[in-house]
Formats: sequence, structure tokens, C-alpha cells
Amino acid sequence: MQNNVTPDETETFEPKIIAFCCHYCAFAAADLAGTMRLQYPPNIHIIRLPCTGKVDALYLLKAFEEGADGVMVAGCEEGSCHFTNGNLRAKKRVHHVRDQLEQTGIEGERLEMFNLSSAMGSRFAEIAHLMTDRIRKLGPLFGNESAN
Ligand code: FES
Repeated sequence: MQNNVTPDETETFEPKIIAFCCHYCAFAAADLAGTMRLQYPPNIHIIRLPCTGKVDALYLLKAFEEGADGVMVAGCEEGSCHFTNGNLRAKKRVHHVRDQLEQTGIEGERLEMFNLSSAMGSRFAEIAHLMTDRIRKLGPLFGNESAN
């Protein structure tokens, strides 16, 4: 998608990123990052789920429709989902929605799935930085329309 974003706008743009996090791993990792006093961008808005298997494709699309510039799904490591294969179902949905985004001219990189354990507080902070930097470079999803 063409955004017509100038370099100055890219530097000042603060993306809104929705993070669908599994209660058992990513949410706990985010909590640990806080306990460890690790800095990560405030652009990440966490929605806690019992398992990423609860993430429906419609939730992902709705997040973009409601103003998110980027969306991440963060679940347990593969083989460690507390509901057996919820994270694998989430992975398939994320890939499917990425394809849908690409087909409509929106960069698929705006949506990403990550796997981590509850002990990975520093990895959570790293992911938060990675997504924020990536989306900042891509620019606002809908240009400056949502700023007004
Ligand atoms: Fe964490 Fe399923 S319980 S992804």
C-alpha cells in the first residue's frame, strides 16, 4: 500500500500495535519484562487471551479496521501450548490473514506471529521493539486519515 509518508512523518509516527497474547506465555513474558524493568515501546497494546487458538481471523482484521497499524499474535512455543495445538491453529490463521492483506494491497509484515515462553521477558521486549520499528518504517496503515 502506498502511504505517501515523508521521512519526517516516519520519524514522528507512533504506530498503534495490537498484541494478542496467550495468558500462559506471552502475557506472562510481558509481565516479566515489566518486573525486570525492561524498556519496551508503549505502542504495544496487549489483549490477553487464554490461548492464541482463540484468535479468530476476524479479530485480526477487526484490529486493523479499528485503527491498528500493526498486529502481533504471541503464543506458547510450538509443542508447549496448554491447549495442545491452539498456537498451531493461530499460526495458520495468521498466515491466511497475511495472504488476505497482501491481496488487498496491505503489507503482510504488518501482521506477525511469535512464539515464546513465560520466562522470555527480554524476548518479549525485543519483539515489541522489532514490531514497533517495522511498523514505524511502513508508516500509518491508512495514511493520516485516522489522525483527524
Ligand atoms: Fe499458549 Fe495455547 S496456551 S498458545
